Amino acid sequence: MSRQRPPTQPPPMEHSSVVAEILSDQTKRRRPEPTAIVIFGATGDLTKRKLAPALFNVMLDRALTEPTQIIGVSRGDLGVQQFAALLEPSVKEHSRQKVEIAAWDKFAGMLDFVGGEFADDATYEKLKARLEVAKSKGTKGNRVFYLSTPPAVFPLILEKLHKHGLIERQQQRAGVPGCRVIVEKPFGRDLASARALNEMIGQYLTESQIYRIDHYLGKETVQNILVLRFGNSIFEPIWNRNHVDFVEITAAEAIGIEGRGNFYEQTGVVRDIIQNHLLQVMSLVTMEVPASFSADDIRDEKSQVLRSVRNLTLSAVANDCVRGQYRGYREEPGVAADSQTPTYAAMKLVIDSWRWQGVPFYLRAGKGLAERLTEVSIHFKSVPLVLFKEEAASSMLQPAVLTLRIQPHEGISLRFVAKVPGENINVGNVHMTMSYADAFKRPISEAYERLLLDCMRGDATLFNRRDSVDRAWELIQPVLQVWEATPGVEIYEQGSAGPASADALLRRDGREWRLLTAPAK
Ligand code: BG6
Repeated sequence: MSRQRPPTQPPPMEHSSVVAEILSDQTKRRRPEPTAIVIFGATGDLTKRKLAPALFNVMLDRALTEPTQIIGVSRGDLGVQQFAALLEPSVKEHSRQKVEIAAWDKFAGMLDFVGGEFADDATYEKLKARLEVAKSKGTKGNRVFYLSTPPAVFPLILEKLHKHGLIERQQQRAGVPGCRVIVEKPFGRDLASARALNEMIGQYLTESQIYRIDHYLGKETVQNILVLRFGNSIFEPIWNRNHVDFVEITAAEAIGIEGRGNFYEQTGVVRDIIQNHLLQVMSLVTMEVPASFSADDIRDEKSQVLRSVRNLTLSAVANDCVRGQYRGYREEPGVAADSQTPTYAAMKLVIDSWRWQGVPFYLRAGKGLAERLTEVSIHFKSVPLVLFKEEAASSMLQPAVLTLRIQPHEGISLRFVAKVPGENINVGNVHMTMSYADAFKRPISEAYERLLLDCMRGDATLFNRRDSVDRAWELIQPVLQVWEATPGVEIYEQGSAGPASADALLRRDGREWRLLTAPAK
């Protein structure tokens, strides 16, 4: 994340409850070098739904430097026109900006395609020739390889890229053509396989060349966590055990597994969401102030706080972690009739640090739930009740809650107590809300847009470093171990808030989850 110099006259923008002044401007960020982007798995779902629309939108935003070449690599014998025709409908469906004919033609002109098996040397010889052509057109040897394939083939692809001289192990620095590899999640499937994968990749690339993607880190609202905490003097003094009672982090999805039964049976919600997205969000909420906004300073602090999360013992897994599965999951194609794969998980974590000791962090994630809603809620401690005994007894006086709404209806809201107008001192809870859409009146770009640009720029701040991936696996390893050895998934209804045992987890501590309802737009 780089800091921008404020323009001399920030243009004020009005909203009924929030005045936003643009203090820095994304468009002033350094443009990437002209680059050849090679996508392995170019006809797959991720390319169609996320990568191609993201690249199309950054082209429209003029954020790319010409020439940029996008080379798809996949099985099959597509010509470049067929490749473009394959991507066009999904870009139209998923692009956040309209796809006009002229813009599409320009984008199609950036595409190239190499058909072949990943195991076949001829595929890499063809790719090498195309990269030479791209270089001669002006990409200067800068290249990004995006591994959007099942993890099982990562070693094979890297070995072949190395063998054919398409990647070389070197520190990335100014003046050297960029040679970077983006690795999609899941990064391994447990601690041992993630470590083995890191070791393997480390043979071919230095850490400065490896971009482990977690698309949550590219979301504007996730990036705003640090800006909110460290750009305002009012939050940091109360962001600790003296003032915070507990923290809730929710990633709820209304959709099910959408036909990805084979993948999901191998994955489950803990590997799919908690090990990566939720622990990353938690580390941003809880990390200490970094020395600077540089990639390593931020990643050092994130890693440090993950190290302070208390390891889950086997009894903590039994008492503080719950799992559920939506009714109907077992009837999905590719799912075993007696599957124990969790589609919902909730857990209580604690952080043994000076700042957070004694503050529980409740994480929950699931599919097939009532709403799509991702948010972080910081629940503050209640006031001493001497003045408000009656209100406290009638539970009118609720402690303040700051909610960072990651998606949808991105924004921030603060619930606090106010006097109800009238002669008596009656209190009520009110909500003050900032909505990104209203405050900034500019579209929020997709996470993959930002992340692809950052990789081309050589900025790894929003990507995961080896140590934090490793630590995140270490933390959830006992959960995987116990749950995979013992059946016990609780069935919950689709469209509900999840299994009853998740409610019991909080009720035991005298607390309740926030309702799973997205605020009205
Ligand atoms: C992906 C998971 O990483 O994140 C999916 O594999 C999940 O299962 C998706 O649906 C959610 O992403 P988002 O951006 O829609 O919250």
